[in-house]
Amino acid sequence: MEDDVEVFTKDFGFDLPTKIEFGIGKINTLKEKLKRYGIERPLVVTDEGIKKAGILEEMKQELDEIDHKIFDGVEANPKDVNVEEGAEFAKEFEPDGIIAVGGGSPIDTAKGINVLLSEKAETVRGFYGKDTMEENSLPFIAIPTTSGTGSEVTFSAVITDTEYDQKRSLRSVKLAPNLAILDPELTETLPESLTAYSGMDAFTHAIEAYTAKTATPLTDSLALHSMQLIVDHLPRAVDEPDDMEARSAMLLASTLAGISFNNSDVASVHCMAEALGGRYDAPHGLCNSIILPYVMDYNKEYCEEKYARVAELMGYSFQDTEKGTKKAVEGVRKLNEEIGIPFIDETGLKESDIEMLAETSAKNLSNESNPRPMDKKDYVELFDRMVKDR
Ligand SMILES: [Fe+2]
Repeated sequence: MEDDVEVFTKDFGFDLPTKIEFGIGKINTLKEKLKRYGIERPLVVTDEGIKKAGILEEMKQELDEIDHKIFDGVEANPKDVNVEEGAEFAKEFEPDGIIAVGGGSPIDTAKGINVLLSEKAETVRGFYGKDTMEENSLPFIAIPTTSGTGSEVTFSAVITDTEYDQKRSLRSVKLAPNLAILDPELTETLPESLTAYSGMDAFTHAIEAYTAKTATPLTDSLALHSMQLIVDHLPRAVDEPDDMEARSAMLLASTLAGISFNNSDVASVHCMAEALGGRYDAPHGLCNSIILPYVMDYNKEYCEEKYARVAELMGYSFQDTEKGTKKAVEGVRKLNEEIGIPFIDETGLKESDIEMLAETSAKNLSNESNPRPMDKKDYVELFDRMVKDR
């Protein structure tokens, strides 16, 4: 491999409006942070799982003295109805800020609720797409409890349109949290399978951001560092849930990957994963981890140098970049195996739906960013291959 860093000559920009506070025990500074952002009546958006894990109890002291309401009606693969119910629930309370606590689902739902409250609207439909908001949003603090989504630093929310069982996205800088509190201790109770799935979601964000047509030197740097952290720590975080070093590395990795893909993009893995998640309600990270090696194999001739770099950070040595790309695909398969990622059946995929899923994937806004062009026919082929391999 060449050692020289390629000089980037295209124009690019970079946005990170979210302030980040990272560290074990940072959750104990919430009260002070609420003051700093002028929040006196927050709406807390979360889900049942977070409540059961006792994470809200840990925050109790921070919230006890202030007037607040908790909305916990968020489902996995958050639905338009969750957002609308949350906004309806909040309307009478008139919050002056929002705190999202949880994985990507509560954070994305909170983003949607913020849109509806700020725009005084009742339905999410009408706000899908880019820059559809006119009003300024409420101060917003995101507190992730999983290491995967990156939603705490992104401008987008992915919401399932329940009329069509399809995921749609809202994209605007106004959706970005003002503050992300990253406390690795909050990820300690995450079960083994969710640690694995969300970790591979973060890895997919990093590798798609790194190889997308929209990648820049800044997004590359973040993605590479993120991938290195994940390769070195994900198996440990899965095997030893209370290993705080591994948990810290994973939380940092997922945020770095989030900043990276927010400024670059995700690509075909996410196009397919969102089609599956919208249709079958399958966990997002599970879908990504199963699909990732297939899309990498499909893309490999279009990003040889970059995949070889990924193989290198996985610890492989090889004679040329072509061999390196093969090692990268093999490395992702091995990582999946090591952390117990199951086969495609687990997502609920039905062969009779493949045409429709391929069509939905091809229509995804991020399809354009994939390094190798992909159309419906190519997506059908990849879905077929996954079914054959089960
Ligand atoms: Fe994702």
